[in-house]
Amino acid sequence: MNPAPNLVMVGPMGAGKTSIGRRIAERFSLDFVDVDHAVIEENGASIPAIFEAVGEAGFRAREHTALARLLDGEGQVVASGGGAVLDPANRALMRERGFVVYLHVGVETQLARVGRDRNRPLLQGVDRREVLTRLLEVRDPLYREVADLVLDADRLTPGEATAALVGRLAREWQRSGVDAA
Ligand code: S3P
Repeated sequence: MNPAPNLVMVGPMGAGKTSIGRRIAERFSLDFVDVDHAVIEENGASIPAIFEAVGEAGFRAREHTALARLLDGEGQVVASGGGAVLDPANRALMRERGFVVYLHVGVETQLARVGRDRNRPLLQGVDRREVLTRLLEVRDPLYREVADLVLDADRLTPGEATAALVGRLAREWQRSGVDAA
């Protein structure tokens, strides 16, 4: 049992952190928040525009600020960006303030979901399969390090993944005052 005040979704681009996170929030009567959206709001600029203006390092600093602010709250499902686990300070915050769910999917699933996406700067003008493979190699150990629960979501629809998670969370995650509806 883990009395963390928030649920944090981690995993690579295209894992379903937002779509599944929203469903989980509804099911447990929690607020849904998204770190990328918080970065966009706090900076008044899109993710590609932020990468363009201040580079990946500048984006990561803003991502950390947004994550820290959101995790200050409670009763939320927090969808993080795929690279948020790179920063050890983010991993520490997630573990301190959240029950962390790793949505694991392979590169084929990611490619099918983000294949034509224009909103993810790391995937523009590159061999996406090669980049996604490399990112997953580096990040998979970090997702696992921070996770309280790992769900293999590769062959699951968002609805199926949600159902599987609801069952496991009801058993494994306990937050005072919140019960599965
Ligand atoms: C990134 C993932 C994106 C976004 C940014 C960088 C990454 O979020 O934060 O484009 O480094 O994997 P999603 O995982 O929600 O796509």
